[in-house]
Amino acid sequence: MVASLSGAQIRQTFLDFYAAKGHKILPSASLVPEDPTVLLTIAGMLPFKPIFLGQREAEVSRATTSQKCIRTNDIENVGKTARHHTYFEMLGNFSFGDYFKEEAIAWAWELSTEVYKLPPERLIPSVFSEDDEAFAIWRDKIGIPEHRIQRMGAEDNFWASGPTGPCGPCSELYYDFHPEKGDEKIDLEDDSRFIEYYNLVFMEYNRDSDGKLSPLKNKNIDTGMGLERMAQILQGVPNNYETDLIFPIIEAAAQIAGIKYQKAKAKTKISLKVIGDHVRSVVQMIADGITASNVGRGYVLRRLIRRVVRHGQLVGIDGAFITQVAETAIASLEVAYPEVREREKSSKLSWSGKNRNS
Ligand code: GLY
Repeated sequence: MVASLSGAQIRQTFLDFYAAKGHKILPSASLVPEDPTVLLTIAGMLPFKPIFLGQREAEVSRATTSQKCIRTNDIENVGKTARHHTYFEMLGNFSFGDYFKEEAIAWAWELSTEVYKLPPERLIPSVFSEDDEAFAIWRDKIGIPEHRIQRMGAEDNFWASGPTGPCGPCSELYYDFHPEKGDEKIDLEDDSRFIEYYNLVFMEYNRDSDGKLSPLKNKNIDTGMGLERMAQILQGVPNNYETDLIFPIIEAAAQIAGIKYQKAKAKTKISLKVIGDHVRSVVQMIADGITASNVGRGYVLRRLIRRVVRHGQLVGIDGAFITQVAETAIASLEVAYPEVREREKSSKLSWSGKNRNS
């Protein structure tokens, strides 16, 4: 039996596990990144990029975070697939020139099998095709039979946060929803069978604008475990949206529309999922000081709000409803990100001030 945990418990369990392994728990960085190459924080490693590049000294050699992230490159898939989101949380453990492949792999395995209690026979590791060292660690130290360790090309198993910058080969852990299909023909691209839930990046190169790789000053570890994905696995639901991280928002919207999610038509379910996803982005962006506008991050926020309104209309909601569903999102997110409640309180205060003066 896998561990039965809420999203909040999965998050805290991850942080506590790595704290016990000597990592400092750091707060999530803002969604507004220091890095000028991206509009929004898109990965757990982004706040640490200057450390990986040797531009800033690390204050600690090991850190762990739950990082709020927003990516809008797949926005059209949100709600249509089991696990595309604009807002997601990346749980990460980081080594800044301290431990490397062996510890990263051993701890990812220990956390997966002993803490989250995922059955080992349901887990498949992948490695970069040229990374014999990682392959040997999985085989010899962890004891995974060779035929279950999947070698994959650079497209899947060489990770970088952008076209230039820190990067390296990676090793991913996949969960198998259908182990009864056997392990003769493992196709990790089959997302009806497998879900990639943990990516261990062996961050040891910098890629320049000509594509040339040069070694970083240190060999580092950067990992990412998708909180929503782990919640889907541990909560035994068919998609990330039906986890306790998102489903209460969907139910709140369905209630306002006077409908039931489980009985709704496929198109209505998609709209409810879009609302569930986007409202989390909107709440977190506003909490980080972003305001809707015509440009940059502000435009992203405006687009997300407009999509929430439109999908609200599509499910039959007549009139303003975002603040009601936002309250559900705030109640869930404030456990780990108290700034969302702070921001909600301060905007209520400024509203009442405005009203008094008018
Ligand atoms: N930085 C690793 C990941 O986001 O997958």
